[in-house]
Amino acid sequence: MKALVTGCAGFIGSHLCERLLSAGLNVVGIDSLTDYYDLEIKKSNLDNLTGSQKFAFVQDDIMTSDLGSALKNVDFVFHLAAQPGVRGSWGDKFSIYVKNNILSTQRLLEAVKDLQGLRKFVYASSSSIYGQISEESVNEEHKTAPYSPYGATKLAGENLCFLYSGNFKVPVVSLRLFTVYGPRQRPDMAFTRLIYAAISGKKFSLFGDGNQERDFTYVLDVVEGMWLAATNPDSAGIFNIGGGHVVSMNEVISIVEKATGSRINIERKHTERGDVRRTGADVSRSKSILAFSPRYDIEEGILRQVRFVQEHMDMYHNSTSIS
Ligand SMILES: NC(=O)c1ccc[n+]([C@@H]2O[C@H](COP(=O)([O-])OP(=O)(O)OC[C@H]3O[C@@H](n4cnc5c(N)ncnc54)[C@H](O)[C@@H]3O)[C@@H](O)[C@H]2O)c1
Repeated sequence: MKALVTGCAGFIGSHLCERLLSAGLNVVGIDSLTDYYDLEIKKSNLDNLTGSQKFAFVQDDIMTSDLGSALKNVDFVFHLAAQPGVRGSWGDKFSIYVKNNILSTQRLLEAVKDLQGLRKFVYASSSSIYGQISEESVNEEHKTAPYSPYGATKLAGENLCFLYSGNFKVPVVSLRLFTVYGPRQRPDMAFTRLIYAAISGKKFSLFGDGNQERDFTYVLDVVEGMWLAATNPDSAGIFNIGGGHVVSMNEVISIVEKATGSRINIERKHTERGDVRRTGADVSRSKSILAFSPRYDIEEGILRQVRFVQEHMDMYHNSTSIS
């Protein structure tokens, strides 16, 4: 069996490729290595993959790549390539989000729409498409009302997937991921910045009062959800993928301080535009149809990420993407 993974050099994509290789698949990974964060970090994400004879890396942009050869005889497509990040999605940078989240999704869908034998097209969607919520948790029926330009482009990508599904029978499953963490988490994301600050003694910029809450999801639970969604013949439509740990940033700070044994030097900053107050996933549908069951609790997950950052301190010291 063969899978194409877009965004294979990224945080989640690199873990997914490892999971697929361990299941015995041949994997083609495509990634343009955008400069959103340090290339050294992206290249190191690929370290466990490039030695495998079953992995082929294509460094290319979805917008210009010859997708036909990457898609030849493919059973599964996992579309993770995107421009992530809520805070950077305002202003001039929005055009990057349009290109990497909307136009490239449309180009990929055009390339798969007449494929014979494609079992599943898994789209990495985002909890950000729900926007501000007043409920404890939301299920897949909840209205979508993105609160950031990033969320709007992820929703546009998801809508494109389903219109190709409706018109061309592309076997789409969209997974709405809730804040993902764990080893290799992007350097712009809070846990990496927090753990790095705890170990290095440098300042951690906390946006808002720290009471904002997120449903944090450990990266290996996410890739398991992707694998279940791809291989379950009954999977179709939308699934929430959340870890079931709704915790505030203030609680996360305490957990990281305990895990590292260090006090964190916090610099308080105003809430960033586009940041929602709370996310919470109702994963009943994923549980009942996919048998999705997150295995990692937040303390264990953070401990694993702490160990990873400790082992890669040189890489983070040299990074200009962490602040
Ligand atoms: N990390 C999270 O908490 C989270 C939450 C919800 C959804 N998601 C989604 O999961 C996916 C992966 O996120 P991540 O955190 O691993 O991000 P990431 O930035 O680490 O990985 C994305 C990769 O896609 C590549 N890429 C971007 N545009 C491309 C293009 N046009 N052609 C080829 N490659 C391109 C980048 O170089 C990058 O390596 C994204 O679609 C993101 O929207 C992530």
